[in-house]
Parts: sequence; C-alpha cells; structure tokens
Amino acid sequence: MTGNTLKKMPAAAIAVTLVAAVFTACGPGKTAKEPAAAAPQAAATAPEPALAPLPPMGFNTWNKFGCEVDETLIRQTADAMVETGMLDAGYKYLVIDDCWQVDRGSDGRIIADPKRFAGGMKALADYVHGRGLLFGIYSDIGPKTCAGRPGAAGYFDLDAATYAEWGVDYIKVDWCNADDLDAPKEYASFRDALRRAGRPIVLSICEWGRNDPWTWAKGVGQLWRTTADIGDNWASVVWIIGANSRHADAAGPGGWNDPDMLEVGNGGMTFDEYKTHFSLWAIMAAPLMAGNDLRAMTEETKSILLNKEVIAVDQDPLGVQGRVIIERGYGGQVWMKPLADGSKAVAFVNYTDRELAQYVRWSQIDIPAGPAKVRDLWAHVDVGIHADTGRHYDERFEVRVPSHGVVMVRIWPGQ
Ligand code: GLA
Repeated sequence: MTGNTLKKMPAAAIAVTLVAAVFTACGPGKTAKEPAAAAPQAAATAPEPALAPLPPMGFNTWNKFGCEVDETLIRQTADAMVETGMLDAGYKYLVIDDCWQVDRGSDGRIIADPKRFAGGMKALADYVHGRGLLFGIYSDIGPKTCAGRPGAAGYFDLDAATYAEWGVDYIKVDWCNADDLDAPKEYASFRDALRRAGRPIVLSICEWGRNDPWTWAKGVGQLWRTTADIGDNWASVVWIIGANSRHADAAGPGGWNDPDMLEVGNGGMTFDEYKTHFSLWAIMAAPLMAGNDLRAMTEETKSILLNKEVIAVDQDPLGVQGRVIIERGYGGQVWMKPLADGSKAVAFVNYTDRELAQYVRWSQIDIPAGPAKVRDLWAHVDVGIHADTGRHYDERFEVRVPSHGVVMVRIWPGQ
C-alpha cells in the first residue's frame, strides 16, 4: 500500500485497511511458546491508591531512541524536562522503555546493562527524583521483552520488590511472548505483586488491545494500550484515532485508554498533523507521554507539547474521554469533550487534502441557544462571543480547517 493510495482513500477506509495491515505485521513476532508465569498468589488487601486521577504525563524513550538508552540520556532528559518547562506543564514521569535490562543474576535478580547504566538504577532514580520528576521502567509479562531482554515471567514478586527498592514510580508491562497466557489474570497478578512490594507504582498495561483491556483493565492498571504501535506518520495517527475512539466509555479517573506515546517532534509529520495528533490525544483524555528528543526541541515542537490550554483539556478533572459528535461524510469530524467548569472543548478535524469549512451548532455540543464565549486554544486568542439561535441560516460557529489540521476551541455557555 503506497502513501499515494492512502491519500486517495477516505479516513474510515484507511482505518480499516491499516488495522488489517498492522495486526498482520504484528502477528508472528508477538507469539511465543515459553512457559507461563508463576500462578498468582492471593490478592493483597491493601487499598488501591488513586494513582492516576488524571491521564499520566511524561516522557518515554522508545519512539525516538529505541534500544539506544543509557544513563547519560536519562540524566540529560531529566535536566531538559525541568529546563524546557515540560515538568511545569505537567510531564512528570521519565520512563525508560525496553533494553535497559540484560540478564538475571544467580539469585534471579534482574540486572541492568552494566555498561550503559554503570551507576545502577537506584542512583539513576535518585537523580530523576532529585529533579522533581518520577521514575519509570519497562518489563514484559512473558519470559522475554519485545526486544528479547529478560521479561518478568516467573519473577513478578522479586521484580516488583526490586523496582520498589530502586524507587520506581511507573512501570510499563508489555505482552510480547505472552500470547498463550490469560491477560486479565497475568496483569492482575502483576498488580498484586506491586501491591505486596508496598510502593505506589503506576501500572501501564501494554497488550495493544489484543485482549479487550477496555473490558477488564480498570482497577488492574491505570492505563492500557488500545492499539498496536504508533508510527511517526499521518496514516498511523488517523488509524489510532479511529480505534481508540471506540472505547470512550471505559475511560475515566483512575483508568485511561492509551492510544500510545506521542510522536510530536520526531520529524515524520507536518506541523498541522502534529497539532492534530496532540489535540486528539487531549480530546480523548489520553496519557501524554512525549516520545521525542527533549534536549533538542524546535520552537514548533515546544509550541505543541507545551500548549497549556490543550494540556488543560487533557487533564480536566471531569476525566471524560471526548467523542466524535459530527461525522461529515466528506472527511471532516467535530469532536467534543465536556469539561469540569461547564465549558466544552471542541476540535474540528480535516482528514482531506484541501482546506475544509466546518461548523457546529450549540445544540450539538450541549450548549444552550444564545451567546457563548469562544477561545481558540492554538491561536491563544478569544474569538469573541458567538450566538446561535438554532435557526438554520442564522449565525453559527464556523471555522476553516487546514488540510490534515485541526481547529480547537473552548466554549463557555452564557457569557
Ligand atoms: C512493544 C511496545 C512498544 C515498545 C516496544 C519495546 O512493541 O508496544 O511500545 O515498548 O515493544 O520493545
């Protein structure tokens, strides 16, 4: 399938085609025959702390750095998170993804790469904490991670205790080499091991939506992937938006659909496409895990990742995942997310190759007829008081949306 073929297809058709392509591509590598993990022990009785009342925000190494991770990168990234204002904007978890681990000792303890993490993980966690951030790590339910490093199978309790000792605050647990196992049971067993270890640790479930996590993951982990891996391209973002949007009912304070980490700033999309990517993640109350090099961000990238008005939509305490409320058959969508102060976040998305005019009526977004204040969350300006009488040809709120772009506003009724 070429980029040109994709360009000519409507968004919905792209979604269906890509779902098929991605799941085929994922297939063989994700299946393995290794023995199951140890049977879960009795569930701990400790109350579940409110680990994620809002969608978690932070940075993860995978999208940009893959296996090229070491302690220098982590320290420099921690510094950058403070210096660029990322921490102030809410990004607090610094997560090392796959490839930090190389082996297990004769006592079964997991061993970090002694060359790349020479100072040890405890010292690194201390450094990260010293910058006011929280520290995250990665493992896998199966015997090996997706990159072939030691997984957690058979070692849930020992690993949880080790991570608690190091000061880990967040763990992403993958599903490679685990397809023969029972996902709800395995992840619950991992959660119980974390509880027994006695440190509050966010559990990020990463089984790519393979076992319908939206039906069971709340109360097990605080976020769960709903799709296969994101790519740094527009087609991938379009497909993920479609797939993740179907599970809005499952999300809310304490447990969030995870459409995967951000690609903003990695170079594969246009400025408008990255703005759409970020806006839709915010409208869908998704975890916001930056996946670019935070030490070398352009002004454009900063203007997206540090857009506090869009972040506020994502982090709104009502915790509702926004939905498509208007589907225009010619390639436009209007999304709405209700916010705690009674206002509504509205995103107009354009999937076509041309600029598209789009409008919304107040009745479609639960705003009473009459005046309402509108603010543009990308231009950072109030765009005035707009009235809607409900009569078809009277004034209505209309915007022009660039190709593959978004206009995102916040609307307060009665002002
Ligand atoms: C899987 C996950 C990715 C990343 C890699 C690491 O593909 O879905 O997010 O963690 O494994 O190997």
